[in-house]
Amino acid sequence: MKVLLTGANGYIGRRLKQRLLEENISLRMLVRNPKSMDPTLDAELVEGNTFDIASLEVALEGVDVAYYLIHSLQQANYKELDRLSAENFLDVAIKQGVKRIIYLGGLGVKEQASEHLLSRIETGEILSSRPNEIETIWVRAGVIIGSGSASFEIIRHLTEKLPIMVTPKWVTTLAQPIGVDDVISYLNASKDLQNSDNLIVDIGSEVMTYREMMINCAEALGLRRWIIPLPILTIKLSSYWLNLFTPVPYTVAQSLIEGLSSEVVIQNDHAKEYFPQIKPLPFGQAVKQAIKEMQENQVFSRWSDAGGGKDMWQENYRNDPSSSILLDRQSLPLDGVSKESLYRTFCSIGGKEGWFAYDWLWEIRGWMDKMIGGAGLNRGRRDSCELRIGESVDFWRVEDLVPNERLLLYAQMKVPGKAWLEFKITDDELVQTAYFYPRGLLGRFYWYLLTPLHYLVFRNMIQAILKRAEE
Ligand SMILES: NC(=O)c1ccc[n+]([C@@H]2O[C@H](COP(=O)([O-])OP(=O)(O)OC[C@H]3O[C@@H](n4cnc5c(N)ncnc54)[C@H](OP(=O)(O)O)[C@@H]3O)[C@@H](O)[C@H]2O)c1
Repeated sequence: MKVLLTGANGYIGRRLKQRLLEENISLRMLVRNPKSMDPTLDAELVEGNTFDIASLEVALEGVDVAYYLIHSLQQANYKELDRLSAENFLDVAIKQGVKRIIYLGGLGVKEQASEHLLSRIETGEILSSRPNEIETIWVRAGVIIGSGSASFEIIRHLTEKLPIMVTPKWVTTLAQPIGVDDVISYLNASKDLQNSDNLIVDIGSEVMTYREMMINCAEALGLRRWIIPLPILTIKLSSYWLNLFTPVPYTVAQSLIEGLSSEVVIQNDHAKEYFPQIKPLPFGQAVKQAIKEMQENQVFSRWSDAGGGKDMWQENYRNDPSSSILLDRQSLPLDGVSKESLYRTFCSIGGKEGWFAYDWLWEIRGWMDKMIGGAGLNRGRRDSCELRIGESVDFWRVEDLVPNERLLLYAQMKVPGKAWLEFKITDDELVQTAYFYPRGLLGRFYWYLLTPLHYLVFRNMIQAILKRAEE
């Protein structure tokens, strides 16, 4: 069986890829940024996207089963983009003789769906619209519980940070969460299912309210929490609240909260009927599993790690620091410190390790970013030592990594322009450069206003990196 996986560097795709590789099937992946994938994987890579028909034709050639794990939700015109993306995928899959498409969408009914969910439903409808020519298995999941999932991160952060919560009405809405490993099991088993018709498979574990999820999560964390629901539904206020107290930025929080006002429970029994071998973990165990992965530094993928389209791909040019016109460059001689040690040290930047110097200034910058709806610092990092191209580190994204040579970070905080931070090891020096491409006058004003702080922060940062690497 030849399988195509799209969204292979996304939250679900990364985990499914691992499961598929364990089965030794012939795997091909369609990715927008091949650098974000491990080059040693035993799988074919095709660079492209669903808006580039030629790349889709190459990706889908000779494929039996194609996974569609794509969305454009972080972009303003996501509805049109997702519609076009699904139409292109379906057309080319049929042309190339693909037998089955497997799509993961969201749980919920059309009548009460949020705008985001409606768009996910529309994608499923498009992919299932030509049953005589191609078969589609449409798996639908609600809240996914797993290390690094956005829903779980929200529940965990709220539970850990707030002993008493006065909450809006949505905490009493019914949902049917499911552990991420079970989602992967359903998706994986869908490729082997002996079936020739379109199928919608709703998946979930036990039915519970968001309030119960938070209380159960607190128990799994060994905490006691009190939740007092109010009879009001405040989408804006709730979104600001989540933006401030959890790692998700305002736009993500808003789309999640909009979906929380309506029930998301399964509408059919197809999961039991067609996949009786899969017994979803109860909520409490899925939470414990997620916490264990975090404690053991084994988080495989995170909600914030996919490129998300916008900053990396929607611009006219790829992010390139050489386009910047303002910079702060610091350099120090290596003085016998090994390149390996230096590389390891600057790659440990962010998260719990902090930013090597003036962490409190970074904290303030993170809070300022949160106040205006940005990512802030509390996204942290997936792994305390290792980095991957494309993943997030606090309010940065890893843009380039060359072992023992270079780390390039691209700023995802709200700034009037584009900013990068680069660490480079030359033959005899460590060179650290902050690049800035200002947007208009405001951008220039911002840069010059921060120049004294930059001097303090960046000068001390490079010194601290060298010192820590030496130690
Ligand atoms: N995560 C959840 O909690 C959850 C819950 C229920 C359902 N689902 C469904 O599961 C599916 C996957 O979600 P996810 O959470 O894994 O998403 P994700 O982490 O945001 O990843 C999205 C993936 O899609 C890729 N992509 C986006 N547009 C593309 C295009 N035009 N061409 C090629 N690749 C493109 C992205 O690549 P780049 O890295 O290049 O941007 C990324 O790999 C979605 O359909 C979602 O609705 C997810």
